Amino acid sequence: MRVPLIAANWKMHKTTGETRDFIARFLPLVGDVRGVEMVIAPPFTSLTSAMDALEGSDVKLAGQDVFWQESGAFTGEVSPSMLVDVGCRYVIVGHSERRQYFGETDDTVNRKIAASLAAGLGVVFCIGETLQERESGATFDVLKRQISDGLKGIGPDGLVIAYEPVWAIGTGRTATPDQAQEAHRFIRDELSGLYGETARSIRILYGGSVKPGNISSLMVKEDVDGALVGGASLQPESFADIVKFSTPPT
Ligand code: 13P
Repeated sequence: MRVPLIAANWKMHKTTGETRDFIARFLPLVGDVRGVEMVIAPPFTSLTSAMDALEGSDVKLAGQDVFWQESGAFTGEVSPSMLVDVGCRYVIVGHSERRQYFGETDDTVNRKIAASLAAGLGVVFCIGETLQERESGATFDVLKRQISDGLKGIGPDGLVIAYEPVWAIGTGRTATPDQAQEAHRFIRDELSGLYGETARSIRILYGGSVKPGNISSLMVKEDVDGALVGGASLQPESFADIVKFSTPPT
């Protein structure tokens, strides 16, 4: 019922040339993949070259961030319709690095989600607790707050959630499949409180040190519907192996 979604978050990596090179090598590796939605989120500067290189393929494009205004005097920002204009189908909103380094709050995340959905973009809404929050037993309180404040006034259409425990991002320390499932189940229960039955159709991705060697054990979990991949998405071979999670490399 929920089509798995595997997304590459390249963060601040790859020039236009490196983007074209990645895609030229990646597409032949995933040509026979069926039943998995594939998404790549390059930096803004590489979106157009990525779009050109992806032409004719099933791989979709995403922005890594967005601003909530349509246009105006907002130096450095990019609007939802600008992302649509260059071919994006999705946008990542509320990544923990944006919250941690760029002052993103539940309120700004909420505005970005609302504006992006209104422009017709799918939204990958990122949530997750820090190590300190987990160790102090606050994980579920944090997730509950991020969901209720981030989704205030927002409907379920076009929404994808990414659970990314901050302590697992770029650390090599993946949540165990059971830890991921426990958090994903909690998130789905919260979504049910907001959206009722529709919550069963919302995809919840896991992010944090996903690799070819651990994707299968995460994807077998009932409420894990895909992955948001950082470091391991930068090489075409490893990202292709992750996309092909149901037939892991031998
Ligand atoms: P890593 O896969 O490098 O841990 O990054 C995860 C992430 O932040 C994806 O958005």
